[in-house]
Amino acid sequence: MTLPREEAYDALEHRVMALRQNSRTGDERQTMSEVFDKDTMLGIYKLMKEGIIDTVEYPVSTGKEGNVFAARDSKGKMVALKIYRTSNATFNRISAYIEGDKRFRGLAGSKRKIIMAWAMKEYRNLQRMHDAGVSVPKPIRFHRNMLVMRYIGTQKAPAPLLKDVALDNAEEVYEFLLEQMRLMYQEAGLVHADLSEYNILYYRRQAIIIDVGQATLVEHINAKDFLYRDIDNINRFFRSRDVKVKDREDIFKEITEVEE
Ligand SMILES: Nc1ncnc2c1ncn2[C@@H]1O[C@H](COP(=O)(O)OP(=O)(O)OP(=O)(O)O)[C@@H](O)[C@H]1O
Ligand SMILES: [Mg+2]
Repeated sequence: MTLPREEAYDALEHRVMALRQNSRTGDERQTMSEVFDKDTMLGIYKLMKEGIIDTVEYPVSTGKEGNVFAARDSKGKMVALKIYRTSNATFNRISAYIEGDKRFRGLAGSKRKIIMAWAMKEYRNLQRMHDAGVSVPKPIRFHRNMLVMRYIGTQKAPAPLLKDVALDNAEEVYEFLLEQMRLMYQEAGLVHADLSEYNILYYRRQAIIIDVGQATLVEHINAKDFLYRDIDNINRFFRSRDVKVKDREDIFKEITEVEE
């Protein structure tokens, strides 16, 4: 659908109103109006003018800090639009991570600014991982409190989370994920820090790691603890899928040790 931009904006507002009305519970409706505040609508409008977003199709997920929508760009290609809510709850959870990250040193200011920095951090983390060859959705654009990335899934539905998939090749997926963690560490210089079966999509027999906002540089003071936690999560999940998992120390070494 290509409309003149003013009309496109009206269409978007209609669409958003409909999403609000379709939300079943009062809580969900509340969330919708929190997500699509005036500034965010204007932000989406800017992305529309650039052709990054043409239509917002349907909500994929309502999380603690933000929402993810299936959208389309001006060529009709599906993209994922993640919008961080600019609420106190979001701010409280993320400010500690931003403070500990040297890339954001000196960033003081309003809550809104910090939340915008968070969207930028997720974008940059995605970019570093993508450049390093890690299996993540390709980042497309960030703007204010929004992130646009490749959509993983079909026209009708997003890819399932790893936790909801019956795997006939669990061993292979396990090895693949250990390799992704190594690449992330060695080539992107990052630790995911919230890795689990809840932040991994499974699409066309491939695991794709998402939700990288909290990923930290390997030199972050807590990076090693985060990495152990990620390893433990992955081991716990694959043990439950009857994979003979490796020793956490051995994995840690494989991921972090520089090859001679
Ligand atoms: N690129 C994508 N393509 C398809 N679906 C996606 C994409 N990114 C995220 N999703 C969906 O949106 C959900 C939430 O995304 P994400 O984990 O990044 O956000 P979150 O803020 O951590 O939300 P939650 O609190 O629910 O974990 C994912 O579980 C997944 O189902
Ligand atoms: Mg998540």
